[in-house]
Amino acid sequence: MSDQPKQKPRILSGMQPTGGLHIGNYLGALKNWVNLVNAGEHEALFCIVDAHAITIDYDPQQLKQRILDAAVSYIAAGLDPEKCTIFVQSDVPQHTELAWYLSAVTPMGDLNRMTQFKEKSDEHKENVNAGLFTYPILMAADILVYRATVVPVGDDQVQHLELTREIARRFNHRFKALFPEPKPLLSAAPRIMGVDGKTKMSKSRGNSIDLLDTPKAVEKKIKSAFTDPNKLRQGDAGNPDICNIFTIHKSVSSPAEVEQIDRDCRSGALGCGTCKALLCTNLNRELDPIRERAAALGADRKRVLEILDNGREQATRLAERTMRDVRKTMGLGTGHYKK
Ligand code: TYM
Repeated sequence: MSDQPKQKPRILSGMQPTGGLHIGNYLGALKNWVNLVNAGEHEALFCIVDAHAITIDYDPQQLKQRILDAAVSYIAAGLDPEKCTIFVQSDVPQHTELAWYLSAVTPMGDLNRMTQFKEKSDEHKENVNAGLFTYPILMAADILVYRATVVPVGDDQVQHLELTREIARRFNHRFKALFPEPKPLLSAAPRIMGVDGKTKMSKSRGNSIDLLDTPKAVEKKIKSAFTDPNKLRQGDAGNPDICNIFTIHKSVSSPAEVEQIDRDCRSGALGCGTCKALLCTNLNRELDPIRERAAALGADRKRVLEILDNGREQATRLAERTMRDVRKTMGLGTGHYKK
């Protein structure tokens, strides 16, 4: 038997720096990342996917700041840079290099089926660029360049993960089995709806509660949030299964509270006003320390850049190892020849 320590499974995930993160990003993914890192059973890398963010109209000056803001949010939410690697996607050009190579084994038909492309091209009709279409190939490269097997995400990314597995299979079949097939790992809240109750929470739809919103702003948004439309008056029975307020409760309230809310909402004993007030208290209790850490870290730009620089070094080392195998296997370049 080998006495080598067993290699831990590798996690890779990321978020776009398109404005501040919202509680959908936090409860749907980031909180899960923090728990996974603290459990210590994986080797974990988290990137800020800035190269994905340029597929919609953007301001370069603003993007610079948003990258740093995203890093601050990652760390303030509890990601410990001593226990995982935090870096910026475009600081590791091996991602975009691999994306180009993978595009040669990705059928157009597969990209055509991506619902996020359809949604985004409807939302940004004036700028439907090729990058928006090939975006899932870059996402596949983000994961495969580290040969990661576990990808903690919300449920809107599951289709992209299916495509990533398909791309890995096609590459392995055409060339050599270099890539494992990564699987999504969903959190307990894989889809948080917006406060309008109509669509998924998303910054661009203006229906979000933001991770760094003030307690007052959180309260105001929750007060006006959509609930079960059949529960009109105090005393009416409601259905927590279709209420977004209940979904958020499940992520931030105690199991005993959740059980009581479920029971009392169904019986009509609990009104929406009281239920929302409890959610405000519990959500703000969870967000308070994140806001505090973000304020302190946001003022320490040097520390943030230092963390990202260490992350870049570590990620580049791992990514380049894969790329040497990829170039050699595909017959590209001369850098791998023995001198
Ligand atoms: P992005 O930036 O849209 O979202 C980041 C993460 O947050 C989750 N999420 C949500 N979860 C629950 N409810 C919501 N309302 C909600 N909104 C967002 C997303 O599922 C995601 O996990 N393509 C990706 C970024 C990406 C990536 C990757 C992810 C690029 N490369 C490699 C994993 C691995 C995206 O646009 O996520």
